[in-house]
Amino acid sequence: MASKEQMDALFEEARRAASFAYAPYSKFRVGAALLGADGAVYSGCNVENRSFGLTICAERNAVLQGVAKGCRSFSALAISTPDSKDPVGPCGACRQVLSEFMEADAAVCFGGAGPRVDISLGDLMPYDSLHDLSSRLR
Ligand code: THU
Repeated sequence: MASKEQMDALFEEARRAASFAYAPYSKFRVGAALLGADGAVYSGCNVENRSFGLTICAERNAVLQGVAKGCRSFSALAISTPDSKDPVGPCGACRQVLSEFMEADAAVCFGGAGPRVDISLGDLMPYDSLHDLSSRLR
């Protein structure tokens, strides 16, 4: 379980990653940082494209950074959206991709310029096929 200090440090990494965002179209920068099971931090930013649908979100970019370095399991995620006052959580596509490489109890925090949300991946992506459905068996 990630400590408050680890989540604070991860959020700082996410904020740093957001500074590298390529977001000339939306002008909305996003940074994500994942704590790998190997102890390393993998970060990513959103990378937009003039063909809008090809835009990659910061969260999926961070997952790809980790997997490309051989890390396939992450225990915590922080997301920074410095251009918003309110917290902005991961989009549905990113929740699906994150759930491939993270357990339901993995810590997630996200925030803009104001207060942060602390939640688990399972609360953001409940009853996903890889997570435990046994409590729902009748
Ligand atoms: N974006 C992310 O990077 N992650 C999210 O979870 C939400 C949206 C990016 C995509 C696009 O570059 C910009 O934010 C505006 O939607």
